[in-house]
Amino acid sequence: MSDQGKSTDSRAVPSTTGAGAPAPSDRNSLTIGTDGPILLHDVHFLEQMAHFNREKVPERQPHAKGAGAFGIFETTEDVSAYTRAALFQKGASTEMLARFSTVAGEMGSPDTWRDVRGFSLKFYTSQGNYDLVGNNTPIFFVRDPMKFPHFIRSQKRLGDSGLRDNHMQWDFWTNNPESAHQVTYLMGQRGLPRTWRNMNGYGSHTYMWVNAAGERFWVKYHFHTEQGMAFFSNAEAAEMAGADADFHRRDLFDAIARGDHPAWILSVQVMPYEDARTYRINPFDLTKTWPHADYPLIRVGRMVLNRNPENFFAQIEQAAFSPGNTVPGIGLSPDKMLLGRAFAYNDAQRNRIGTNFHQLPVNQPKVAVNSYMFDGQMAYHHSGSAPTYAPNSAGRPWADDTGPVPDGWEADGAMVRSAYTLRRDDDDFTQPGILVREVMDEAQRAALVDTVAGSLLGGVREPVLGRAFDYWKSIDAETGRRIEEKVRSGTATKPAEGMGEG
Ligand code: HEM
Repeated sequence: MSDQGKSTDSRAVPSTTGAGAPAPSDRNSLTIGTDGPILLHDVHFLEQMAHFNREKVPERQPHAKGAGAFGIFETTEDVSAYTRAALFQKGASTEMLARFSTVAGEMGSPDTWRDVRGFSLKFYTSQGNYDLVGNNTPIFFVRDPMKFPHFIRSQKRLGDSGLRDNHMQWDFWTNNPESAHQVTYLMGQRGLPRTWRNMNGYGSHTYMWVNAAGERFWVKYHFHTEQGMAFFSNAEAAEMAGADADFHRRDLFDAIARGDHPAWILSVQVMPYEDARTYRINPFDLTKTWPHADYPLIRVGRMVLNRNPENFFAQIEQAAFSPGNTVPGIGLSPDKMLLGRAFAYNDAQRNRIGTNFHQLPVNQPKVAVNSYMFDGQMAYHHSGSAPTYAPNSAGRPWADDTGPVPDGWEADGAMVRSAYTLRRDDDDFTQPGILVREVMDEAQRAALVDTVAGSLLGGVREPVLGRAFDYWKSIDAETGRRIEEKVRSGTATKPAEGMGEG
């Protein structure tokens, strides 16, 4: 259609300006004569140009590439012995939002690059929003939050070329041997889930649950997919990264649109509060799992995703998840990573979305809010002339808990900068060794060897290369030997970029 053609849209109501007045034209700017210069008082044109320049907010750093959907969580079992949280009382049904993501890739990067996948959940409970921001693996790369920015930067891009770099990734991992468990998961099948529907989710950290009697327990969350776990091979994932960079995003959206609603069963491992003092591994170490033989799974309920976002930007890009968002009956734990995260997320969101990100519909709790945070950019909700200070004499409620907190724990000692005190069975390589020898079968081990060797052949140099062989030999001597042999003989498939194709 030419510039001057008639609109094919027969709606009587035209578009409007931001101020609601009829917009003059969405096709032609205001000029002096048909070929003349544009006039500064074409306010509608200026508004369009200026707002377009501000359409994007910074992408998440990390976990930029993702998508999500709304759903329902139903508590099907009685776990009131462990928590008084309203959402986990038998029969409770809670609206929720889930977002899945890759960690290192940018917003436009392929869904199918080898990576850990984010598994973020926001429950709009009757006691306020509860967020569980986990991954598709039950553990993590490091155990002190001071290391987190260094870790993420090592997985992102080089300062000069702007390229992903396997050397940098392995440099970080081999300098931080506590990463061995998570790297073994990452280089195995979990690093390439077939779809988001086909992966499990984990809270990963140890959290606290508190029951109505005030008794405290340590818990780990497991969301098991009802769709079954399924994975891509390296070749399939590499092909898909080129054919459809949005494969996972599309799969989730299309499945929900056709009524094929994915579901997960939530179970928890529960550790009695006092066990944590003497358990043979540090139960707050995020690089460790708790053996199920010691703490078996206890079923809690079921989550179903049944509604796609109506608007990706408003409901997914502006969604703000934070491990610091807890509700009565659920607390954090002495896991230093978790305590660091309790600060990081809301701060990121004030920067990424804006000071009042919590007022946006997707982040707003379903319960009434009486917060002593006021004004700032884009303030929408307000409390009129009510006092903005506490205590006050005008009857505006304010909080005043004093004494021991229900979800607290004991701590004492001098201020230090130090790693955790080691327990009897604490070491970095036992659990990844068990994963390789006892959980993986021979075909999975062979694929692991190929993936790691391929990644190392993708530009990893000495002294990092030698350290990487030692790292794998510490995990499992035979696997390390096979990796070294493959790399030395150059027989593994070389990846195209980053850890993408492994
Ligand atoms: C000290 C360690 C960590 C820090 C400082 C940290 C920080 C961050 C930050 C700043 C974001 C972006 C948030 C936003 O812009 O909305 C983020 C996203 C995310 N992180 Fe972490 N993170 C840490 C560890 C972890 C761990 C251990 C997990 C999983 C167990 C995890 C899972 C996620 C997920 C799933 C997202 C995406 C959230 C979403 O879907 O919007 N992070 N992290």
